[in-house]
Amino acid sequence: MAEHIHPIFDRLIQREDWEQFFNQRSKVLWLTGLSGSGKSTIAQCLEQRLYSEGFVIKVLDGDNIRTGINNNLGFSQDDRRENIRRIAEISKLFLDSGIITINSFVSPTKAIRQLARDIIGSSDFIEIFVNTPLDVCEARDVKGLYQKARNGEISGFTGIDSPYEAPDHPEMEILTEHQSVEESAEKIYTALLGQIKPQEKRISS
Ligand code: ADX
Repeated sequence: MAEHIHPIFDRLIQREDWEQFFNQRSKVLWLTGLSGSGKSTIAQCLEQRLYSEGFVIKVLDGDNIRTGINNNLGFSQDDRRENIRRIAEISKLFLDSGIITINSFVSPTKAIRQLARDIIGSSDFIEIFVNTPLDVCEARDVKGLYQKARNGEISGFTGIDSPYEAPDHPEMEILTEHQSVEESAEKIYTALLGQIKPQEKRISS
């Protein structure tokens, strides 16, 4: 019976097969930065841009992760670590399916981001530091959480009474203060393109 089966059915479809299928190379983009730094807005804008160019992507952020698979986690250091570990494992599944993942999480410490890098693999992990100063994030206070943290209604808030360690050598750094969301997304898109476009086929003579 086995001899009737074409060799391709003997194995799972590989990442390379999916990458060919989607006509792209998969990567994990990891946006890190303070709450209110603009990570998710940039991620959404970048998703639009990539989508319009025919790329297959998935955005993961607090809205679809902390309300669902991670709804049993809070903001202690252990819970943040577990949050990031699960997100990294999910991203790895997308990576192996040829899909580009854009992750938008505070991921506050170097150790937490290193954990994600180790799970995903350094060559597929693109760390993007969304560098917006604390005072700017706090002045925006989109969700009113900084105010609550200052009033003592929330404890352990990143940047107030819980640490944020900026990356030393991110693959990209985005300074949001003096550029629009579209400009930030476009910079990432331009820098990313060479890494996600399908490789040119070599024509042997
Ligand atoms: S992480 O530290 O585990 O990476 P994550 O990105 O999932 O954090 O969630 C951060 C978001 O949760 C913030 O943008 C903010 O809206 C909300 N939040 C609620 N409590 C806290 C807190 N104590 N510290 C940071 N963010 C918090």
